[in-house]
Amino acid sequence: MESMDIQVSTQAVSGFDGDVIAVGVFASEAELSGPAAALDEVTGGALTDLLRSGEISGAAGEVTILHSLGKFRPNRVAVIGLGRREGFNAARIRRGAAIAARALRKAGARRIGLALGADSSLDATQTVRAAAEGAILGLYAFSRYKSSPSQAGEIESDQQRQIESLTILAEGPQSELEAAKERGQILAESTNFARDLGNEPPNVLTPTEFAERARRMADEVGLECEIFGPDWMHAEGMGALLGVASGSAEEPRFIVLRHRGGPADSAGPAFVGKGITFDTGGISIKPAEGMQAMKMDMCGAAAVIGAMRAIALLGPAINVTGIVPTTENMPGGKAYRPGDILRASNGKTIEIVNTDAEGRLILADALSYAVKHGHAPLVDAATLTGAIVVSLGRIRAGLFSNDDTLQQNIMSAADIAGERFWPMPMDEEYEELIHSDIADVKQTGGRGGGSIAAAKVLSRFVDDHPWAHLDIAGVNDLDRKNSESDSGATGFGVRTFVELATLLAGPNESSES
Ligand code: BES
Ligand code: ZN
Ligand code: ZN
Repeated sequence: MESMDIQVSTQAVSGFDGDVIAVGVFASEAELSGPAAALDEVTGGALTDLLRSGEISGAAGEVTILHSLGKFRPNRVAVIGLGRREGFNAARIRRGAAIAARALRKAGARRIGLALGADSSLDATQTVRAAAEGAILGLYAFSRYKSSPSQAGEIESDQQRQIESLTILAEGPQSELEAAKERGQILAESTNFARDLGNEPPNVLTPTEFAERARRMADEVGLECEIFGPDWMHAEGMGALLGVASGSAEEPRFIVLRHRGGPADSAGPAFVGKGITFDTGGISIKPAEGMQAMKMDMCGAAAVIGAMRAIALLGPAINVTGIVPTTENMPGGKAYRPGDILRASNGKTIEIVNTDAEGRLILADALSYAVKHGHAPLVDAATLTGAIVVSLGRIRAGLFSNDDTLQQNIMSAADIAGERFWPMPMDEEYEELIHSDIADVKQTGGRGGGSIAAAKVLSRFVDDHPWAHLDIAGVNDLDRKNSESDSGATGFGVRTFVELATLLAGPNESSES
């Protein structure tokens, strides 16, 4: 993303000297409050007039832009609806900031101010952090492959306009506000890093290129990085990962990123991500319609890599390891088949039923690697099953775990992060789904409970380590743009991973800012 200057300032809203200042108003309130009330004075009561006339209602998502016509500064004021005051939270600030930033970019503004903090239930640091996150996520555009408008014979689109500076106005100790802005910026920029990876076309983002991008990022932020190829995978006995890779002309890679913030003798948690750079389904090939979306079958891996970037920059006092197996799933002449039996690196055999259920296979070897190296807890993220989209739609991701404490920690981390999960069942009886007569485990179950069967397969490769699985198929990709975001990869999971690492690092790490 092109760089935008982001600042935090304690100056009064009426003194803001950029192009537009955005303030928030609540729905169903007869009187203005906070920064909106302050601006009302400067505008000679224009905001109150609009409120009385009903033109401004304060409904969530509403944007009203007023022009000063030379009568006040700044030249324009944007009034952003925040919804009702009850239940007001950081997620609403995040959304309001995203909508405001996008609307103001569309209106041609270059230097914008955000003063959305409007209720005492949120402290200023939470507000500043959420505003920074929302604006940076909202302004994200994947424009790398768009020729300049003049060259393409087009007029400039909203995404090609650019905001030069963003000033977040808030009250409080400057150093605390700065730290909150910094944290929000790192989280959002790392999410956008993951979005870029998801949006890259699969001819560019091959497993080799994926690993190169991880390495480059690791060098920039100071993570340890190891990248392994097929010879190493053979030596490790990773027959499941190699089985999936066998149908592709592209070599697979195994990426390990390490943040060392804790004691040398503790392995610490491992975050594992499914990195299928393109999923054709293999021999059990997918239908043509919509197959292009399978370039995003590496979004679990992107979330892990994006999270590791943020963790390196924030520096929590804990060791965290990111593990990414990456390959294509292609139907080449050497491709693995339904009926094959593969042996994973922990020695267990898997009876293949459908080569389109490849994610659990590459994760089997990656989780076995994490177990072998003593990591705990283990958390994997994967666009694993179409069935989770049937269960939960595109709002919440599925959360599967063998450990209540870990599950609770993930729900708490997600709440801070503003990402939504829903706990899924793991009753012992579901094991039947993956019983094989001829191997240790069958790769897939029958018709029902597809996401649970997939999670049950993964559970065979974590021994008794506390483990959770995040099935993010459905939330990793937004099919249509809206007032808050462009379409494409969402970077879902990055912020939950970071908040989880922060939580696991213990009370010394501040997570409230
Ligand atoms: N990558 C897909 C899952 C997926 C589906 C992600 C839709 C995003 C959107 C995965 O590899 C897959 O194909 N799973 C199969 C498993 C089945 C063959 C047991 C599925 O869900 O249909
Ligand atoms: Zn598949
Ligand atoms: Zn897949």
